Amino acid sequence: MRLSVIGCGYLGAVHAAAMASIGHDVVGIDVDANKIEALSNARAPFFEPGLTEILTEGINAGKLRFTTDIAAAAGAAVHFIGVGTPQQRGGDAADLTFVDAAIDALIPHLQPGDVVAGKSTVPVGTAERLAKRIAPTGATLVWNPEFLREGWAVQDTIEPDRLVAGVPSGPDGLRAADILRDVYHPAVASGTPFIVTDYATAELVKVAANAFLATKISFINAMAEIAEVTGADVTQLADAIGHDVRIGRRFLGAGIGFGGGCLPKDIRAFSARAEELGRGESVAFLREVDAINLRRRERAVQMVVDALDGTLFEKKVAVLGAAFKPHSDDIRDSPALDVAVGLKGLGAHVVVTDPAAIDNAARAYPQLSFARDLDEALAGADAVIVVTEWDAYRRDLDPVRAAALVSNPIVVDGRNCLDAVAWRAAGWTYLGMGRP
Ligand code: UGA
Repeated sequence: MRLSVIGCGYLGAVHAAAMASIGHDVVGIDVDANKIEALSNARAPFFEPGLTEILTEGINAGKLRFTTDIAAAAGAAVHFIGVGTPQQRGGDAADLTFVDAAIDALIPHLQPGDVVAGKSTVPVGTAERLAKRIAPTGATLVWNPEFLREGWAVQDTIEPDRLVAGVPSGPDGLRAADILRDVYHPAVASGTPFIVTDYATAELVKVAANAFLATKISFINAMAEIAEVTGADVTQLADAIGHDVRIGRRFLGAGIGFGGGCLPKDIRAFSARAEELGRGESVAFLREVDAINLRRRERAVQMVVDALDGTLFEKKVAVLGAAFKPHSDDIRDSPALDVAVGLKGLGAHVVVTDPAAIDNAARAYPQLSFARDLDEALAGADAVIVVTEWDAYRRDLDPVRAAALVSNPIVVDGRNCLDAVAWRAAGWTYLGMGRP
């Protein structure tokens, strides 16, 4: 099928390449000429495992191209909208400027029977409004939220765990759902659930999923706070409750909490939208989820201060990690960098290292010092804090070797990802979050 993908950021670039990899003829469109140039040369503008490979394959096979010209969308059967919906400046609500601009630009190129498939994360009610704008063209709007995780984006797009299509009632909606089923044929044929619903439900599925995940993380971090005053071990607690299949162990990783371009802004936008709808109290707990999450960053800073007898002045602290999670160079709302800034603000000489995110971090945080080399970051450190659980720090870092590099073998495990027994055996003072 001929497809267009409008917006070639994280979501759109991966979607375009993944759709080409399953055989469609795809054009990716973005207003950012630099991004388009990079993608046209099969260069991923961000770190995402597997993306370069499918970009190269798609471009070489003649199935994938990128352009800044929105007119290239004309003739595609389905137009995916994958632009960003960041948090508004000075507010919690989502900024829909890019979605509105994409729809406005696309409208002149739509033909009767086309399907416009919205993938961006939007406040409930947006699809209804956009559908009215599109209606005169004879195209049909479908809301088709995306659930990909950064670091696993290619796999999540090609083999999603579910597909959701919010459609208008009536034959146009059913026809549009069938077209979307064809787009995702390989996944649908292999049994991936394909849920056809209304716009509001489709929009809410997305924000509800992220709100639930954020709540799960903050729940276990709240338990970590209780563990800290009782001597309990939150990791064992998570293991034990996680055996209950109704609860499940995933997303019960206590530590410095969630960040990134999705969970934090999505729970805030959800709260803001619920308040507009007169139902703020229904999701009032999300404010608490946010507050617990942000407290954990402060707690991690305090743990370093306490470990260094109350002062960071002229102390070198090695911060291992900058990305909001491993397998990503994304530093949006990264807890790792918040911790680094907090330590620096208290007078520490902070050296941050990361396998993928240093360039992004150095651009956004010129006040911090960076080392590309892990050993250089560790050299002479008075304390080490692990804030992103890259394998390089978790699995591949030998605590005996690391102990020989630092001045003072103190490690704060901000992701509860180190083997406490091995680190202690190597002579380290090991401090986990919510662990004795
Ligand atoms: C999240 C959702 O997981 C995706 O399903 C969704 O599609 C995406 O947002 C989106 O809306 O686009 P992502 O932001 O890539 O995906 O990252 P996650 O894997 O969810 O991790 C979010 C944060 O939670 C990270 O900072 C991670 O370190 C933290 N986290 C995760 C924990 O602190 N503990 C855990 O147990 C799990």
